[in-house]
Amino acid sequence: MVKGTSLRGFWSSRLAFVLAVSGSAVGLGNIWRFPFMVGENGGGAFVLFYILCVFAIGLPIMISEVMIGRRGRRNPIATMRIVGEEEGSHAAWSLVGVMGIVAGFLILSFYSVIGAWTIAYLGHSLAGSFSHLPKEEIHDLFEALQANPLKVVVLHTIFMTLTVVIVGRGVERGLEKLVRFLMPALVFLLGLLLVYSIVAADFARGVEFLFRANFDALTPAGMLMAMGQAFFTLSLGMGAIMAYGAYLPEGTSISRTSFAVVVVDTMIAIVSGLIIFPIVFASGLDPAQGPGLLFETLPLAFGSMPWGWLLGPLFFALLLFAAWTSAIGLLEPAVAWSVESHGLSRRSVAIVIGVLIWALGLLTVFSFNLLADVRIFGGTLFDNIDHLASNVLLPLGGLLITVFGGWVMCKNSSADELDIGTGPAYRTWRFLARWVAPLSVLLVFLHAAGILSALGLV
Ligand code: TRP
Repeated sequence: MVKGTSLRGFWSSRLAFVLAVSGSAVGLGNIWRFPFMVGENGGGAFVLFYILCVFAIGLPIMISEVMIGRRGRRNPIATMRIVGEEEGSHAAWSLVGVMGIVAGFLILSFYSVIGAWTIAYLGHSLAGSFSHLPKEEIHDLFEALQANPLKVVVLHTIFMTLTVVIVGRGVERGLEKLVRFLMPALVFLLGLLLVYSIVAADFARGVEFLFRANFDALTPAGMLMAMGQAFFTLSLGMGAIMAYGAYLPEGTSISRTSFAVVVVDTMIAIVSGLIIFPIVFASGLDPAQGPGLLFETLPLAFGSMPWGWLLGPLFFALLLFAAWTSAIGLLEPAVAWSVESHGLSRRSVAIVIGVLIWALGLLTVFSFNLLADVRIFGGTLFDNIDHLASNVLLPLGGLLITVFGGWVMCKNSSADELDIGTGPAYRTWRFLARWVAPLSVLLVFLHAAGILSALGLV
């Protein structure tokens, strides 16, 4: 995979690329963030809008991002500059890469804290703490963790260290092998949990909540969150996928590869919802309880299911691993850029950037305890960091990337890079990338800002 120097090796195969990109895409976004977002935004209509965003906006942008990455074959900032100049456009396009690095910073800062929660729950499950606990005590377990910021800081430090070590050494083949084995294991375990939710929880109500669309429950802010979730879960809009595209060999189909990743990622999110909401309804929990949702539902299942003592630790270990591979993808662009453009040592750069992100992460740790009362725009510091990165910077970055792929890059370049001829498949992508994706992002932005309703358009 990614080598320690700026010399770019190629992925050993298309499968390796798919695994790396899905390793980055599948993470806490699917299993932790998607369900709690769905719960906070009333269910079905949010899910439907999210799926629409994934395919109408996410897929064409992912294709654009991989395509630009393969054309430029450098870190996102240099790639945008070089391909931009090649197309006779402005070097200022490299600012998209800069914005992406900022977004990655912000996301990793809170991502690592949720990684820390995951480590704490791995510990609980190993100690057998869930066994036959009623929901009140499962709730207390979560509260107790949040009431102990020191513990969360220590675990946050461990998670960031694990990430920095891998990125600092240069992501190696060992990880690729691990992803190959552990991703299917995670999918298998999710399958088992799904069986539990079908037979032992309120599956019917879970399905109804997830798929019965009540559009009155979907606010403009909720639509923005659904779009933000589509970008977040696919790792789009910040140059991360561009960085992976840089390693993709010629002759690999970008469109088919992207489609596979998008479908797998979406299925994992939906299955997570199908696991969590039946437990929520069977236990009379609140679907809209926020970021703690995953941690207050699954332990109930592990505490009461046969083999729960074994499946619990396995699940949290695999979730931790999925979070870790995503965290590596979040840190890599900033480090690759510093190494390639300033010739600094990869190891020291990874450490310095890691420490900065770690420090920013303290704001998220304290958003759930010491600073819980600090509110900006009605949300905690964590809410604001997440909102700025996921709902503003990622869609904005994605908008610029698809405008670049669809408008700045000429037809010859994109057709040449995508290598699917200029038939219906190419024309569909180009139409989505030029018109549908950018205009949809713009409309959702305007709608969330209240501008469409102020103009009397909706
Ligand atoms: N997609 C990851 C998840 O769902 C999170 C993420 C967002 C990410 N942007 C990224 C991961 C960039 C790697 C690179 O958990």
